[in-house]
Amino acid sequence: MNNITPIILDMDPGIDDAVALSIALTHPAIDIKLLTSVAGNVSVDKTTNNLLKLTTFFNKTNVPVASGASAPLKKPFVDASYIHGKSGMPGYDFPQVTAKTLPVDATTAMAQVLSMSPEPMTIVATGSYTNIALLIQQHPELLKQIKQFVLMGGSLSGGNVSSVAEFNVFTDPDAADIVFKSGVPIVMIGLDVTLKALLPLKTIDNVAHIGESGSMLQKLMTAYGDSEPGGKPMHDVNTICYLLKPEFYTTKDYWVDVITNGPAAGATIADTQNRWSNGKVNAKVAVDIDVQAFEDWFLEQIPVMNQSREGAI
Ligand code: RIB
Ligand code: CA
Repeated sequence: MNNITPIILDMDPGIDDAVALSIALTHPAIDIKLLTSVAGNVSVDKTTNNLLKLTTFFNKTNVPVASGASAPLKKPFVDASYIHGKSGMPGYDFPQVTAKTLPVDATTAMAQVLSMSPEPMTIVATGSYTNIALLIQQHPELLKQIKQFVLMGGSLSGGNVSSVAEFNVFTDPDAADIVFKSGVPIVMIGLDVTLKALLPLKTIDNVAHIGESGSMLQKLMTAYGDSEPGGKPMHDVNTICYLLKPEFYTTKDYWVDVITNGPAAGATIADTQNRWSNGKVNAKVAVDIDVQAFEDWFLEQIPVMNQSREGAI
């Protein structure tokens, strides 16, 4: 049994998405069967182009890319360019994009990949969940082909776009509600851990000296506007780290509901006292992380990116 994990990766690059993708594209234990874009940090045209910039940069244009939803299911689309810049990936002059997107949309491409997979697959989402909600609505017969959703999003300890809501869930709470009610096993990697695993600014500066991949990432991460007193949160990187190093994370099984309307729209509420869920569970929620292990692991990935990019692995 090989230890390579086939995944579908749905993203809204976005700088932390870009860092996560740089690891996932080049790590020998991850096999990206499909990359899909969604509107989120910036428009879907830009998030799609940013996926193509990265597959071109890492000489991985064989990885198929499909463009996804340009807006949430019901809410109007509001981006996060104030954090990720106008392009979504500012600061580095990427090579001319050579790859093209698939001639089908993200949801159709996901359905095609899932139906051809010999085993149920992991879907990782690091943007809003619009594409995966559409997949659930349009292809319910394929739910059995999804092993788990590993989601960056949500929070049991306060929000980052309101006092209670995290950006990915806030952007499309209706999609998140569909996903959390889908019955597909969920790993929720929320702000409870991503705001703990901050990369110190010194660490980000030092990355510049680790080959061309490090130089590119340092420029992006320096331009990244999401910053805390102790450093910068690489939210989306945690989904890939969880796949490869689950032991870094402490998780608890809860029933999680999504609030879709009103002042608390986008909040994820866990029934921690078993008040209404009658013992049912729909998510494994990450509640703690080994911060030093995360930082050490992150730094170890950059030489691997360079080796992959140079064709050495
Ligand atoms: O709340 C953080 C999430 O919102 C991350 O996925 C970031 O890229 C933005 O999409
Ligand atoms: Ca993201």
